[in-house]
Amino acid sequence: MDAMKRSHSVSVVALEQVSVRFGTRMILNNLSFQVFPGEFIPILGPNGAGKSTLLKLLLGLLRPASGRVQVLGRPPRLGNREVGYAPQHRVLETDLALRARDVVGFGLDGHRWGPGWHDCRRRALIDQALLEVDALNFADAPVGHLSGGEQQRLLIAQALLSRPHLLLLDEPFASLDIAHEQEMITLIERVCRARGVAVLLVAHDVNPLLHVANRVLYLARGQGALGVPEQVITSATLSRLYGSPVEVVSALGRLFVVGADA
Ligand SMILES: Nc1ncnc2c1ncn2[C@@H]1O[C@H](COP(=O)(O)OP(=O)(O)O)[C@@H](O)[C@H]1O
Ligand SMILES: [Mg+2]
Repeated sequence: MDAMKRSHSVSVVALEQVSVRFGTRMILNNLSFQVFPGEFIPILGPNGAGKSTLLKLLLGLLRPASGRVQVLGRPPRLGNREVGYAPQHRVLETDLALRARDVVGFGLDGHRWGPGWHDCRRRALIDQALLEVDALNFADAPVGHLSGGEQQRLLIAQALLSRPHLLLLDEPFASLDIAHEQEMITLIERVCRARGVAVLLVAHDVNPLLHVANRVLYLARGQGALGVPEQVITSATLSRLYGSPVEVVSALGRLFVVGADA
């Protein structure tokens, strides 16, 4: 999306000079940026940079110490059906005998559905979500029998169930090998582009995401840089963010960040 179009569309996420503190520690420091409808934005940065904290802020799980946060034009609020979320380190271990479709159904139960929310409507929504993530063929299998990649697909289906406008995914590829990671990226991109969902996705490696990313958000030392990868993932920008020399090396069509204690 070009700058002209952006200035005319309502932002999905808007942060204005937002700071988040835990005790005396400043985790996010005067952060300002906007995300627009349908954008696919990887969030990158070293461990402890505040990536998960940022998502929790957008979910209304945390309040900023100062600044203004808007999600879809309003302050963040818990249980907002317009926001889908798959948390970091989510393990499907509560009851491994649960069927895959039951796990996806949790995406509905977390919200307040009024009376008249009939079983057949519920089932249709769950089937649709399973179809979108290519999970219909194991819909009735116990989740304990599924691979990490299959379980991950269920979590994405769960997050998409209420047809959100914003999808927040915290390290969704942590348990996947490279082939399955690429498969998941393709799948998330397909569903979100088809529905115009904006995606903020925390990842460790930008390389598998370079071809789908509209822009990237890099966090370090409480600061952030948001822009197209060619602008953000550069020696100059990352050295400024880290406050120490960082070298970005491009080789074999991949970007390597050297010198950052990622
Ligand atoms: N509830 C909390 N209370 C105190 N410190 C926290 C809390 N949550 C996160 N932190 C700290 O804030 C920093 C950022 O955490 P986090 O957002 O999880 O980082 P990231 O996801 O980028 O690895 C870390 O140093 C972490 O230990
Ligand atoms: Mg995290």
